[in-house]
Amino acid sequence: MPSAGDAVTIHTLRGFRDLLPPESSLFTRIEAAARDVFSLYGYQELRIPTIELKELFVKSTGDTTDIVEKEMYAFTDGGGREVAVRPEGTPGVVRAYIENNLGQTGRNGKYFYIGNMFRAERPQAGRYREFTQIGAEHIGNASPFADAETITMLVRLLEKAGVGGCSVVLNSLGCAECRKTYREILLEYLRLNIAGLCEPCKGRIERNPLRALDCKTDGPALAEKAPKLFLCPACAEHFARTQELLKISKVEHQVNTSLVRGLDYYTSTVFEVRSSALGSQDAVCGGGRYDDLVKSMGGPASPAIGWAVGVDRLAMLLKDKARMESPSAFVIAASDGARTAAFGLLGELRAAGISADFSNFELSLKSQMRSADRSGAAVALILGEDEIKNATCAVKTLKEKADQRTVPMTELLTEVKRIIS
Ligand code: HAM
Repeated sequence: MPSAGDAVTIHTLRGFRDLLPPESSLFTRIEAAARDVFSLYGYQELRIPTIELKELFVKSTGDTTDIVEKEMYAFTDGGGREVAVRPEGTPGVVRAYIENNLGQTGRNGKYFYIGNMFRAERPQAGRYREFTQIGAEHIGNASPFADAETITMLVRLLEKAGVGGCSVVLNSLGCAECRKTYREILLEYLRLNIAGLCEPCKGRIERNPLRALDCKTDGPALAEKAPKLFLCPACAEHFARTQELLKISKVEHQVNTSLVRGLDYYTSTVFEVRSSALGSQDAVCGGGRYDDLVKSMGGPASPAIGWAVGVDRLAMLLKDKARMESPSAFVIAASDGARTAAFGLLGELRAAGISADFSNFELSLKSQMRSADRSGAAVALILGEDEIKNATCAVKTLKEKADQRTVPMTELLTEVKRIIS
């Protein structure tokens, strides 16, 4: 144990990380691209709490899912309530939709959220215990037009963020009726083949046989050998129409009947966007319909569809494009008497919409010039005794290493704008 007064270095927890510049700038760019696209499609922002009652996730994400069984940060709060830090955004959005009667506002039922999620998974490249999702939920529209629109919007978002080389994988899990029949057929098959299943699957097939198809251990073999789901005519028609509409939107996609998704609420259309450039954690986005969730959580019957992209994974794909932000102008005080004026000039530049920075007006001219060069600024503005006396400013274009020029104060802002434009 360190004694009082010892300096102790404290590190981040495993699976948590600091997002440093320039990588953090990628997050800002991706989020800005998403906001632009959401506004084109009529989506409005919903800010949901980070902590909710644990029961919300148990009931919606599902008590046999990995997320709820093993990965939730859940604890008893000071008031004795069982709470959890959100592992995903969909349950909170659905709760907010019901609690605030959003279905009765006459609006279009389209919401987006951007925020950090928490899952105590085994950390590896692209898999963190705290990560950022950008999510979209469209509640109250059962038609395949909603499916095609939301998947198209997702693809446009990836394009706008500059992410290429991704593929859209699609499947349909059918409705409750299709799955009721399939559940029995699959359960029968799993019971007969139980000896070959992993221990967790053995324990849960009676409660959730479909979960075995998504199991990391048993899933791949079952995808080949287990009986396949047959869609009822209405679900088959919905799925075919969705694909037809995606073609009209020029969204390339492949159908993969092994795609089951690991959350309990999905029905009908499910999809993922994957990138081969990401290694084993290749899912950039996951989503699908959850037509029964709102009702099962106590709300009005409201079919819904949504998705969430992993911003950390998008940032990995864009890492070559990470850039340090540079100010346009760098202000330097060349003498003691010029410091206050230099500070005032910084304010004027910023008020005129020109990004400006400085190091420390109390340091030597040489040291301030070094900082200006390192900052990546386009121009250095130097104030000394002569400049103050003559109401001028020395202007040095940094990138071209041009000679210093003297500009009257009255023309300075125009001149700086000309240089940086
Ligand atoms: P999900 O597939 O669990 O779906 O997560 C969506 C995306 O979040 C993944 O494709 C991945 O990019 C990212 N992600 C998930 N876990 C991690 C992690 N540990 N580290 C880094 N990134 C991660 C959902 O969360 C659903 N709520 C999506 C949805 C919305 N479905 C309907 N509406």
